[in-house]
Amino acid sequence: MDLLRLADVAVADQRVFIRADLNVPRDDDGRITDDTRIRASIPGIRDALSRGAAVMVTSHLGRPTEGQLTPADTLEGVASRLGELMDREVMLVRDWVNGGAWHSELTSGDLVMLENCRVNRGEKADDSELAKQMARLCGVYCNDAFAATHRAEATTHAMARYAPIACAGPLLTAELDALGRALENPARPLVAIVGGAKVSTKLTILRALAAKVDTLIVGGGIANTFLLAAGARIGRSLAETELVPEARAIQDEFPDKVPLPVDVVCAKRFAADASASVKPVEAVEDDDLILDIGPATIAMLLPLIANAGTIVWNGPVGVFEFDAFAEGTRALSDAIAASAAFSIAGGGDTLAAIAKFGVTDRIDYVSTAGGAFLEFLEGRKLPALEVLEERGREARERARG
Ligand code: 3PG
Repeated sequence: MDLLRLADVAVADQRVFIRADLNVPRDDDGRITDDTRIRASIPGIRDALSRGAAVMVTSHLGRPTEGQLTPADTLEGVASRLGELMDREVMLVRDWVNGGAWHSELTSGDLVMLENCRVNRGEKADDSELAKQMARLCGVYCNDAFAATHRAEATTHAMARYAPIACAGPLLTAELDALGRALENPARPLVAIVGGAKVSTKLTILRALAAKVDTLIVGGGIANTFLLAAGARIGRSLAETELVPEARAIQDEFPDKVPLPVDVVCAKRFAADASASVKPVEAVEDDDLILDIGPATIAMLLPLIANAGTIVWNGPVGVFEFDAFAEGTRALSDAIAASAAFSIAGGGDTLAAIAKFGVTDRIDYVSTAGGAFLEFLEGRKLPALEVLEERGREARERARG
């Protein structure tokens, strides 16, 4: 790939803008439950600082409404965690796009965090004007957010066009190298496990993914949408009704690839202390919430995992944060860890799950990316990479004269 790498850019006395992915999972009180993405972003920051740059780092956190910074959206907790990990203070800059010339005061060795970039108007729409304004803050733009490379947003895409220099950070390039190697010629059967709560973004890529893999195990709201498509009742469970036709089309096209849950763990309310009842899918009631897969489903899935050659996993199959609904995700993580298959796990919640169940060290490759890695596996062009490649090619041509 024609990427210009941060390590090859002279950053001394430059302001370096790093777009990281610090979108970490948090509990109901806003506490960070897994800081892998923050830790993984530190080498890029340290590299630029150690070579005399002033660094500003930003990220999205969640999916806020543009123009409104609520307490749930702030990067405050992330900045203080980064500060703890780097053993220094990391100041958080709030109004960084229209807040005057604050950036001109930064000097070599300074490190600041810029508040949640998705709160800026125009970020999601990849707005050029916003991107130009942001590009004026720095001499070097560095994208180290592999986990957000599937998003064409102003900080991941348009800004790379307008910054004086645009390069890729070490996490982004390491992820690309590792996933590229692992997935170039995967040992078969290739089993993908896709779960979690981000139903719409993931379901739309599942058809292409189903064509690539031998088995596609679905969980969470995605499984519920497939169950609906198969004519089952799912009560009040999370699902995407508009995507039922898509789920049906996938089942029709790949009838043997997507095993559906045969039993589930339900509750009447979404709470850690809700009482859990295991029931066959046919017995789900109108006021039930499906919060995990049941034991018969686990027993059905375990041999598929045990016999896999390669396993890629993104998204828990139940609400593993609540102990009563964690068994499905725990059983699958143990089986993946025990399997001889080459295993890759990725995504914020998946990282939190494997850490909770103590299997992180037994997964062959742990990626910080969730959706981006599924799209990479699917073979899609990732927009944030495309623009970096364009800029990389331009830089090489200029260098050749
Ligand atoms: C992720 O968690 O997969 C990335 O941070 C992207 O988040 P998004 O799906 O909200 O764009």
